Amino acid sequence: MGTVFLSTAQVYNNSCEIEAGLAYEMHKLCYSRIANPSNYFLEETAALLETYDSDIEASCVATASGMAVIRTATDPFLIKDNSLPAPNIVSCAKVYGGTFQQFWVQRSEEQGIEVRWIKNPFDLKEWESKSDKGTRFLYGKFPSNPSVTIFDIEMIAEVAHSRNIPLIVDSTSASPAFTRLLEFGADIVIQSATKVMGASGTSIAGLLIAKKNIASKVGTDEMRGGFATWAKFWHYRDNEFLLSPMSAILLLNDIRSLRMRIAQISISALKESNIRAISSRTWNRLWIKLNESEND
Ligand SMILES: Cc1ncc(COP(=O)(O)O)c(C=O)c1O
Repeated sequence: MGTVFLSTAQVYNNSCEIEAGLAYEMHKLCYSRIANPSNYFLEETAALLETYDSDIEASCVATASGMAVIRTATDPFLIKDNSLPAPNIVSCAKVYGGTFQQFWVQRSEEQGIEVRWIKNPFDLKEWESKSDKGTRFLYGKFPSNPSVTIFDIEMIAEVAHSRNIPLIVDSTSASPAFTRLLEFGADIVIQSATKVMGASGTSIAGLLIAKKNIASKVGTDEMRGGFATWAKFWHYRDNEFLLSPMSAILLLNDIRSLRMRIAQISISALKESNIRAISSRTWNRLWIKLNESEND
């Protein structure tokens, strides 16, 4: 288990050093809102889980909740840009209730940003026809819960990239132990680490893992180059979404058992689906019998 760095600031030698650190002119663990060793440890681990043994480079930012991570992942793409039409969001309709609320109430009703819902996420034409020059990102949840709806990540990533926008996917229910969506073309993966990643129920937390050099028609080269780090240094710094270092270490401890837990979840799910398969076979036999007796 890692060390919990609860201190708000780490050591620095003089005022010039902290000034340079806060201006991002040098890497310095000067202030915990933007640089805390325990949080870095969790972020490095989460980025590695999504990418090890692949040629993908990614970075991560940990936030105080899954809801905060959704804002961190989406806010920067909704900035005003006079050279573009008014922004809109294209999102699977089957998202987490809090996401629906954030998009529908805060974005749409309060901010006037149009949200276009995808009713059938397997329908490529629906994604294509609903996204246009004003669309800033495509958004989905993989899989949704409780209905376990999925969609073709590779196909939808192609739609996003052909429009120079990112595909953002909430993979809370799957976790990197089940699916690593960056490998299938997603640009940004977010997780409410409150759920599968953290098992012991001690921490509310969010994780955002972004590829290097993502597609986006808004923002700066720095933002596209390393979105998670950029989000932490700029967007998150000004909005205060900091995960407590204590929670970071508790989560790291939970992640140690992720693989084992997912294996057990899979065994239980397979058993459950066998029971369902058996009952549907029984039902089929009954049905045949009923039909036979009707034909007699
Ligand atoms: C899929 C999904 N995304 C995001 C969230 C929000 O996460 P949090 O409760 O950590 O803010 C949840 C919470 O249940 C969720 O299930």
